[in-house]
Amino acid sequence: MKQKLMSGMRPTGKLHLGHFIGVLSNWVKLQREYDCFFCVADLHALTTKYDETGSLRQNIKDVVLDWISCGIDPNISTIYVQSQIPQVCELHVLLSMITPQNWVERDPTLKDMAKILRNKSEKTSTISYGLMGYPVLMTTDILSFNAGYVPVGIDQVAHIEITRDIARRFNNIYNTQFFVEPKPLLTHMPMLPGIDGKKMGKSFNNDIKISDDEKTTEDKILKAVTDTNRVRKTNPGNVDNCEVAFKYYLAFAKDDEELLNQVKCECHNAKIGCRDCKKRLSNLINEKFKPIREKRLNLSLNQDDLKQIIDEGNKKVRIENQKILDNVKEIMQMYN
Ligand code: TRP
Ligand code: SF4
Repeated sequence: MKQKLMSGMRPTGKLHLGHFIGVLSNWVKLQREYDCFFCVADLHALTTKYDETGSLRQNIKDVVLDWISCGIDPNISTIYVQSQIPQVCELHVLLSMITPQNWVERDPTLKDMAKILRNKSEKTSTISYGLMGYPVLMTTDILSFNAGYVPVGIDQVAHIEITRDIARRFNNIYNTQFFVEPKPLLTHMPMLPGIDGKKMGKSFNNDIKISDDEKTTEDKILKAVTDTNRVRKTNPGNVDNCEVAFKYYLAFAKDDEELLNQVKCECHNAKIGCRDCKKRLSNLINEKFKPIREKRLNLSLNQDDLKQIIDEGNKKVRIENQKILDNVKEIMQMYN
């Protein structure tokens, strides 16, 4: 039997190339080796965007469309929506009872989220009780399957540490070995920067979406910063100072050593201008995403199929998670 793996993403809108390189391509590979459950974490989205629910339904669809078109196969893996699983809410309450308050307070990722919220407008600056429970809710997602493996980006590793701590604490308190301590699975790809060289993110307006069209992709890449010492085409460049374009080459042509050597050679000997170099890069990326974008378009025209995939996933997960919940309640000697 394959070992269980679970992971999730908040539905914040259409996914970008950073998601693809950092997390999604890893998920796609792992689904052959593990029994995978992929969660659209809409309750987690509510922890900060409780007042922006108007786009939530569309965002959930967009995330699932991106996942499937990038290669998550609903015939092999299970895709589901967190809020459709009442068992998650129930286990969350139980686990929140055994979680010391200072464990959530010292979670570094949560501290960052709280900081961003505080800097925003008055209206959204309230840090809710639900936000404090973010790591416990994520713990619940994982422990609801007793999943041993959680593939995530580096920014989520602190949360998995808390999950391991809560699992261990549960086992100690109730004198059991029921919960396994899950391990994070990191991709070996370094983080893909946004076109301005900073962290890629929707809110920074520096991202390229998986679902962007070819023209938009090219326009964005042509704006990307390059080796700033290369003022003129005749100045030799250095790929190590090319903070965006060359990093993208490394990510999207990682197995094409010949091309990478060519780019280096042409750059270092001033045989190509940055504009042409970036044109070649955007062609490469557009080629790579062509089948993905076509698949996405087809899927989006079949809303019924999409709904069926999600509904079936939800149904399966409710059954899976109920089994774990029953065990937990038995171990805790809850009223029955
Ligand atoms: N917190 C994760 C993120 O923002 C999403 C998430 C929710 C998750 N539940 C999870 C990731 C369980 C891994 C496992 O990306
Ligand atoms: Fe970057 Fe290419 Fe310009 Fe070199 S030629 S600095 S690799 S964009």
